Parts: sequence; C-alpha cells; structure tokens
Amino acid sequence: MNRYSRITGTGSYLPPRRLTNADLAAELAAKGVETSDEWIVERTGIRARHFAAPDVSSSDLGLQAARNALQAAGLQASDIDLIIVATSTPDMVFPSTATILQHKLGIAGCPAFDVQAVCSGFVYALTVADSLIKTGTASKALVIGAEVFSRILDFSDRTTCVLFGDGAGAVVLEASETPGILATDLHADGKHASILCVPGTVSGGKVLGDPLLKMDGQAVFKLAVGVLEDSARATLAKAGLQDADIDWLIPHQANIRIMQSTAKKLKLPLSKVVVTVDQHGNTSAASIPLAMDAAVRAGQIRKGDTLMLEGVGGGFTWGAVLLKY
Ligand code: UT7
Repeated sequence: MNRYSRITGTGSYLPPRRLTNADLAAELAAKGVETSDEWIVERTGIRARHFAAPDVSSSDLGLQAARNALQAAGLQASDIDLIIVATSTPDMVFPSTATILQHKLGIAGCPAFDVQAVCSGFVYALTVADSLIKTGTASKALVIGAEVFSRILDFSDRTTCVLFGDGAGAVVLEASETPGILATDLHADGKHASILCVPGTVSGGKVLGDPLLKMDGQAVFKLAVGVLEDSARATLAKAGLQDADIDWLIPHQANIRIMQSTAKKLKLPLSKVVVTVDQHGNTSAASIPLAMDAAVRAGQIRKGDTLMLEGVGGGFTWGAVLLKY
C-alpha cells in the first residue's frame, strides 16, 4: 500500500493592528519619508498589512494559526507527531521557534524544527513534512509559516517598508492512502544572496552589521517571474498534469504584477489565482498558508481541487508544491 500525505486542515492568524496604505503613509510622513496609496497600489497591489504588537512573536502568531488548523482537521495538539515552522523572523537565535511553539501548544516529545528559506519557507517546510510522512517518520504534522517582518524593516527606506506585513498560516498534513501532495520541486542559488537579505549577525554580545532588510526590488522581480514558471512546469511534469488541470494557483504574495505574470505564463485566468497580497502585504513564509486558509474558509477551494503552491524569495530560493486538496 502506498503512503501519501494530505492536508486535512488549514488555519491562519493576523495580528489585530491593521494599517492601510494611507495609515502607513501618514506614519512615514511624520518621519519625513514620502509615499502614497497610489504608488503602493499601482506598483504592488498592496492596500493594507497587519503589524504585531511589540511583545508578540512569530511563535505567538503561529500558535493561533496552528490551533485554527487543528480545529479544522478535528485533531488535538496531542495527536501531532511533527512540527515544522518556516520563518525568517524567529523568536530567538535558538532554540527554534518550532520548539517554543510546541511548548505553547502544551505538547512535548515530537520532533520540532525551523526551516529557513525566507519567502519559499512554506513550500520547503511542506516538502520536508511530506517526505517525513512518506517515509513513516511522522503521521500527523503541523506545518506553519509565521513571521513578524515588521521587526526587520527599515522605516526610513520607502522602497521596502511599505511591502511587508506580519501574520501566520498553518496546515495539518496527515498520512493518507490517497494523494495528497502530488509533486514537489525545490531550488536555491546562493549567488543571489545580496539582492534580498538581512546582512547583520550576532557576535560577541552585539549585532554586527545591518539587522534590517535590504532588497534590490527589480532584480528580485526579474528572477521571480522566470523561476516561478519553471517550478510550476517541473511539478506538473512530475505529476503528469497540464496547466489546465490547476484549479487554484496560490503563489507567494509579494506583488500582484508577479502573480499576474505567472498566471499568464501558465495560461490561467486571474479568477484561478488566490490573491491576498492586497490585504496582507508580503508576509514572507506565512503568505502561502495565509492565502490558502483564506480561500478555503471563503469556500473557493473545495475538497478534491488541484492546487499549485509557489514560493520565491531570499537565498535566492524557489519551489512549488502541487497537491490535491
Ligand atoms: O518576498 C520576496 C519577493 N520579493 C519580491 O517579489 C519583490 C519584487 N520587486 C517588486 O515587487 C518591485 O520591484 C517593487 C515593488 C519593490 C518596486 O517596484 P518598481 O516598479 O520596480 O519600482 P522602482 O524600484 O523602479 O522605483 C520606481 C520609482 C523610483 O523613483 P525614481 O527613481 O523613478 O524617481 C523610486 O524611488 O518609485 C520610487 N519609489 C517609491 N515612491 C513612492 C520606490 N518606493 C516608493 C514608495 N513610494 N514606497
């Protein structure tokens, strides 16, 4: 009997503080930084984002998303035997956000670790969980993307600080006799590290270098549109499916123009693309599970639909997961 993995529940959580572009523009103007709702909407499609309170960490956001996913799957935290958290804004240098979250869930014993692949983190984490379930190492996994990107933004740099938000999304992935996850495809190319990075580090009790996000937006944009098409095609080929078999494309939510371009290359109408970037901004590793949960709860995604999840981001990293929901 073949052993597959299947998503049995989704959940998400957004911190309550919501800033529209106008709210953010007003806050930035007070610091002498000029931007506008018009510029942000036209160049990115973003209209609002959520920012966590100063005492709220990625594990707090991830915990709420995980609880919602467990409820949707009809499981208790004690049923879980693997936790993977995708994040680039961990609670601490160590231990991992996953172990902190495990303790907050009130469980102990199961493996828990973080995956660091920036905005591709969720597709990386889902691929790892799928593999661990297929090999029998785990049966019921929580896969979570959780970020507090507001902590690493330079609010004097208008080219980056208007783009990102905080939030978390989670799925429960269970062993199944039927697929589930149909195909996965992961890549990285470290020569592009400098186009999207937080170059600082901790050494000798101090932060060395710049601890805030730096991005060459145009370079990232150009790379992203190319690799997203390649990765989608690779997963479709592995599963023996065609573009037209995709019911929903759930791309990383960074910029509506990148998403439109990917949809066009895959000959998918925009009505088949899940879009939450307008309301969430770019939440890095949380963006795909946040978008997926929104579409599931809105009744758009239904059991049996074929979903293409696609991530791309710092590293440079990219990848896709093709699955039957
Ligand atoms: O999550 C990982 C993946 N990340 C991404 O996918 C991000 C990919 N890149 C992008 O989404 C886009 O490149 C950006 C949204 C970051 C920038 O859009 P763009 O169309 O590439 O704009 P640009 O960088 O070429 O800037 C155009 C102009 C510049 O002014 P000048 O030099 O033409 O006078 C910028 O200074 O827009 C100016 N500008 C702004 N103006 C108002 C840049 N940021 C802002 C701003 N408000 N926030």
